[in-house]
Amino acid sequence: MRRGILSLLAVGAFAVSGTAACTANVSGSGRGDKPRIGVILPDSKSSARWETADRKYLAAAFKAAGVDYEIQNAQNDKSAFTTLAEQMITQGVDVLMIVNLDSGTGKAVLDKARNAGVATIDYDRLTLGGSARYYVSFDNTAVGTLQGQGLVRCLAEAKATRPVIAELNGSQTDNNSTLFKEGYDGVLGPRFASGEYVKGPDQWIEEWDNTRAGTTFEQMMTAQPNIGGVIAANDGVANAAINVLKKQGLNGRIPVTGQDATAQGLQNILNGDQCMTVYKDVRREAAAAAKLAIALAKGETGVTTTKVYDRVGKRDIDAILLEPKAITRANVRDVIEDGYVSADEVCTADFAAKCAAAGIK
Ligand code: BGC
Repeated sequence: MRRGILSLLAVGAFAVSGTAACTANVSGSGRGDKPRIGVILPDSKSSARWETADRKYLAAAFKAAGVDYEIQNAQNDKSAFTTLAEQMITQGVDVLMIVNLDSGTGKAVLDKARNAGVATIDYDRLTLGGSARYYVSFDNTAVGTLQGQGLVRCLAEAKATRPVIAELNGSQTDNNSTLFKEGYDGVLGPRFASGEYVKGPDQWIEEWDNTRAGTTFEQMMTAQPNIGGVIAANDGVANAAINVLKKQGLNGRIPVTGQDATAQGLQNILNGDQCMTVYKDVRREAAAAAKLAIALAKGETGVTTTKVYDRVGKRDIDAILLEPKAITRANVRDVIEDGYVSADEVCTADFAAKCAAAGIK
């Protein structure tokens, strides 16, 4: 769809496939006049969601709209991320949607796209100082608030007195991690101040790496064996902490939070090893982002519902932010009835009885 001098500049600047691609791109032959959208997902290990949910629901929305699309995964490799973006720009995408691996790499890619006349969307993670036209995500501070409140509720149920709270935050280069932390620290901070809870170790988990999360938590437990509650920023990090607790026979006795309502997280909840997770219905996030992308690709303006302030770029960005939902054992069933995770994935042989007890069919 995108034609003329900007396409020519794009191909000229990233002459990957040479003159032939240049001609094809400018004339539109070979690609047809269908709008074309490129998406780059971050990795497939920091959370199951990117491959099991985001890819699936974005693809479904693009297919339904009949647009051309390409969804790639950078597999946590920043240079691969950049190369993928450059290839998409060169190939003439009308819209580029990214989940950045960090704001620096994200910004470089967004700026290249903008200079080539490609419309851009930050998907799930805001690129600080970036130039994306739109941002689609959940209310990430609210995610953190739900995690903090969930931990408070589980600690009350466990009748914990002056528990030492450990925090396993997400990757420091992910703006969402900062927002999650703002959310749960907002709940926990006053309890530390009053002496009801005791502030314990507090660390970022580089790249959301689950193995690092396990090692970090093991070190925390060694340094401070009386940890009584754990904020884990997502289900993968939570599972790493739960595995450490299992080795010490402490699983189920020390509440651990999570996020993403993954099958593994839901199983850990049914087992009583995980206190809660946060369900973000990625179908709605993907549908909202795809709708914006399709509008942009057709040269229309998108409809957004709010603005988000980028404190580094010092600008407001038009955004859509969706509401997250807290999940405990009492409502694991909601996620399954919603069709987000299937009963088959959660209710494997070992979990059949627990699923039945939780009303999951
Ligand atoms: C997402 C989470 C995800 C994490 C690790 C965050 O930016 O919002 O849903 O668990 O990245 O991939």
